[in-house]
Order: sequence, then structure tokens, then C-alpha cells
Amino acid sequence: MSKGLEGIIAASTAISRIDGINGRLFYRGLDIDDLAAHSTFEETTALLWYGRLPTQTQLDHFSQKFIANRQIPNEILALLMALPRHTGPMEVLRTAVSALSAYDPEDDDNSLEANVHKSIRLTASMPTIVAAWERIRNGQWPVMPSARLGHAANVLYMLTGYEPDPAAARVLDTCLILHADHGLNASTFSARITASTQSDLHSAIVSAIGTLKGPLHGGANEQVMRMLLEIGEADRAEQYVRGMLNGRRKIMGFGHRVYRADDPRAAWLQRLSADLATRSGVRRWYDISEKVRTVMQAAKPLPVNVDFYSASVYYTLGVPIDLFTPMFAISRVAGWTAHVYEQHSDNRLIRPESEYIGPMDVPYVPIAERG
Ligand SMILES: CC(C)(COP(=O)(O)OP(=O)(O)OC[C@H]1O[C@@H](n2cnc3c(N)ncnc32)[C@H](O)[C@@H]1OP(=O)(O)O)[C@@H](O)C(=O)NCCC(=O)NCCS
Repeated sequence: MSKGLEGIIAASTAISRIDGINGRLFYRGLDIDDLAAHSTFEETTALLWYGRLPTQTQLDHFSQKFIANRQIPNEILALLMALPRHTGPMEVLRTAVSALSAYDPEDDDNSLEANVHKSIRLTASMPTIVAAWERIRNGQWPVMPSARLGHAANVLYMLTGYEPDPAAARVLDTCLILHADHGLNASTFSARITASTQSDLHSAIVSAIGTLKGPLHGGANEQVMRMLLEIGEADRAEQYVRGMLNGRRKIMGFGHRVYRADDPRAAWLQRLSADLATRSGVRRWYDISEKVRTVMQAAKPLPVNVDFYSASVYYTLGVPIDLFTPMFAISRVAGWTAHVYEQHSDNRLIRPESEYIGPMDVPYVPIAERG
């Protein structure tokens, strides 16, 4: 038995490859560094779904489909308005994606064609759900998506009601590219397990959202920010980190099941965080992050992961802390859906075995005789 399935190869995939020893990541064979430098989220999504980079005409067509599918049904807006205001955004996203299947004309059609249609609808509209919830819980009207903006810029627009600075939109776009797929991570595995029962795409994505939410997975970026806020000043970082480690507590944003070297996405996010700190004049969160990392390198050398610098990046962009994990989800849906196609294309029910460690041959005692 391998606890946590560590080291077990449970699926073949042509979607992404992690080279954990050298700290490299590839989507469909393309180095993440090239995509982060030159691509957009829309183009990266097309790459993940169709297996190769689109031509300009294909990309224009693809981007138009995204724009055309950004709106959510009024019934979903009404559902959001009916939820208690304290509901967490990941709960809201999970609930709304589940409800969306009821309004999807191809909800139970598992053909590749229908799954691509549904993926476009979901990937285009998940940011609308997240942004609408942010507005509704603050007593504001949701902002309708803009047909003039790219995917990332539109996310910021719907959150704030203002067209973002192109540099800020590019930062978010790069974050979305970096989070779009990552081998057989826990949420992708959940999506594939659900797809392997020949269940529908929405069900697979709901499974994945629920799995991403946990602090050992996507929820770590929120925990990193709460840690930075608790530390408060860079010169308090050393005492904080050493105190946590002495208490055998984890420092969020460090450690990884696959990487032995630093996560290549973290290098990008570190640069984005440094740039934002310089441009905004708010250096505090980047400086604390750097200090935490230096102390960790000396005290417990673990690889830095994607969630560490994404915290200070999102915070400096003005994204509310409990929307950090939804930001991860609106990107990773590109990978989740690609994995559903791949699972359906060569399916075998994913059904491992467990090692039973409980008692055997326990006598059935009638209820009146139980002590
Ligand atoms: C990602 C993670 C779940 C991988 O876990 P894993 O492969 O199951 O490894 P374990 O949790 O068993 O950790 C192995 C050892 O490293 C330590 N460790 C792992 N991550 C740590 C962290 N972030 N801070 C401190 N110690 C850590 C564990 O305490 C354990 O030490 P021990 O052997 O002395 O008990 C784990 O590193 C973690 O919880 N990190 C923090 C959460 C996080 O950033 N998640 C986002 C991942 S992208």
C-alpha cells in the first residue's frame, strides 16, 4: 500500500508533464516558461483542449466563443442572491457549477463535441459566478461581463466595475496560464475518478472544485496570505517561522508531493510579486514573503510551491483573500475539462482497493442486549 498514493502512476496523460527533479513543467510538451512569457489564458486553454497551439484564426474564433458564453442564466444569479452572505466563495462556486448543469442543453451528453461545448460555457462563465458573488455579498449589483475585454481583464472588470490597467490584467493572465494544469494533482484526480464512472462533465468539475478547496491543495494560497498578515513585518518573519516549525506546524506555500526542486511557477510568481511591489509601492507582502523563504531555506529546505507567491500577487492586485482559491479554480477548469476528455477517450473505471485493518467476525448482538 502507498499512503496517499505517493509514487503510484494511476493514469497516462498527454496533457501536462511535471519534471519534479529539475523543477520544470510542460503543457502538451511546451515549456510553461514560454507560455507564461508569450501566451494568453485563452490560447493556453486551446492548447490544453486541442493538443496544439491554435492559428490566429482559430484563436480569434475560440476567444469569441468565450466572450459569447460569459453570461450566466438569471436563475443562477437568483440562486446566488438567495445564498446566505457568509457562504464561502468556493462553496458558492461548487454550488453554482452544479446548478448550471440543470440549464445546460447538453448536460448528460458525454460526447467529445458536447463536452467541448460545455467546457467553453463553464470556463467562460465561472469567473462571472465568482465576481457576481463578490458583488452580491457586498450588497452591490453584479457587473455584466464585457465583450471588449480578454478573459483575465474581464475577471478584474467584473470584480471592480472598472476596466483594469493592462499591466494588472497581464499579471492575472499569467497567473491563469500558470495554474491551468498540473499532472495528476488531487483535484484533477477527483475529476478523472468522477469521469471514469461515465458521469457527466459538470459532476466531474464539481468533484474537482470540492477537492481544490482544501488547504493542502488550492486553499493554501489563502492560508499563505493569512500568514503574511499575521507576521505583519518582515523582521518578525524569522521568529514566526521558527515558532511554527518548532510546534511541528506547516508553513503554507512550501513542500510538494512531486517537486524536489522549486516549482517553476513559483519563480514566475515571485517576479510578478516583485514587479507589483515596485509598481504599487506596497513592498510589505513581497518583503515578508522573501524573508519567510530565506528562513525556510535555512530551517527546513522544502521546495517553494505555486501558492506561496500567488498570495502576495493576488493581494496586491486587490483580490479579496477568500477569492484566491476561486482564482485558481477559474484557471484549473481548463485542465480539469481536458482531463475529462482524456479519461472518456480511453476509459476504465478508477477503483482502487483498500487494505482492511478493522476487526473480523464480530458477533451481532441484539439491540436489547447491548451495553
Ligand atoms: C503539499 C503537501 C501536502 C505535500 O505533502 P506530502 O507529500 O504528503 O508530504 P508530507 O505532508 O507528508 O510532508 C513530509 C515531511 O515534510 C514536512 N512538510 C511538508 N510540507 C511542509 C510545510 N509546508 N511546512 C513544514 N513542513 C512541511 C512534513 O511535516 C513532513 O515532515 P516529517 O517527515 O518530519 O513528519 C505538503 O508539503 C504541505 O502540506 N504543504 C503545505 C500546504 C501547501 O502549500 N499546499 C499547496 C501544494 S501546491
